[in-house]
Amino acid sequence: MVSVLVEVDGCSNLEEFVSLQWREQLSVGNDLIDNDHKHLIAIINQAEDTLATRNLSSLKIVLNSLADYSKFHFAREELVAAAAGFPGVAQLHESHEGLMKKLTEVSQELGAELSDAPAQHLVQFLRDWLINHVIKEDLLMKPFLARFSPKFDPRK
Ligand SMILES: [Fe+2]
Repeated sequence: MVSVLVEVDGCSNLEEFVSLQWREQLSVGNDLIDNDHKHLIAIINQAEDTLATRNLSSLKIVLNSLADYSKFHFAREELVAAAAGFPGVAQLHESHEGLMKKLTEVSQELGAELSDAPAQHLVQFLRDWLINHVIKEDLLMKPFLARFSPKFDPRK
């Protein structure tokens, strides 16, 4: 399967979407955070595969695992950001709370059946949620994390 960072414009079928792939340009310079982002991308790709089958109960399981891992990741990221001296930790925390709320709302809004339009909307939402809000906002931390090794782990 071909993997690109963003989907091809004008997709009319879910099957035309290609999977997201982490790229070096998304690196914040910290292995813990980058690996979490790679894992989140993998879960979103899994959600998209599940969406294509229209199996709602499987989709809900995947979305729950996305919410669980996001919660874990956001807490860890705030810890790393604070330890690295990033001045925007409070804002980051607020943004994370908003992202969790949005994810919960979207999961709760899922109807009993998934027709093409809502399924495509969900794919777009998840990609936008992750790339534009979760990862791109984190790139603000990069100059602060650059003062540390990529292996920087405040728990050690
Ligand atoms: Fe993040």
